[in-house]
Amino acid sequence: MKLYSLIGVFALAGAPCLAEPTHSGGMLESCIPCHGLDGIARDAEVPNLAGQNEAYLLNQLRAFHQGRRIHKEMLYMSRKMTDEDMQALAAYFSSLPPR
Ligand code: HEC
Repeated sequence: MKLYSLIGVFALAGAPCLAEPTHSGGMLESCIPCHGLDGIARDAEVPNLAGQNEAYLLNQLRAFHQGRRIHKEMLYMSRKMTDEDMQALAAYFSSLPPR
């Protein structure tokens, strides 16, 4: 009996987070304070990402990463991203329902 409940706990702990992109390198967590887990911004100066075109989001992330689009916070955020991270993040936010 005890063994079974233990297995249950481990199965739950190992379950992937709801809708967390699998290849974002854990980056999604760091976007949430500003852009929201639901892609709806918490601040008037931060754009909503939910439902935005995937290709557009990916282009913007690459632009921040390469310093073509200048913004201090987003440069800092995108510095460590791989292209795979950016693709996963763009796919995630574009899949959310817009406000
Ligand atoms: C400290 C707050 C902050 C954090 C954290 C943050 N962002 Fe941003 N983000 C902004 C702001 C502010 C802008 C608007 C930039 C501008 O005015 O040019 C922006 C812009 C963007 C844009 C362009 C949107 C558009 O409509 O052009 C994308 C895409 C984006 N962020 C993705 C992300 C992702 C993905 C993460 C997490 C890895 C993240 N951001 C983390 C503040 C933040």
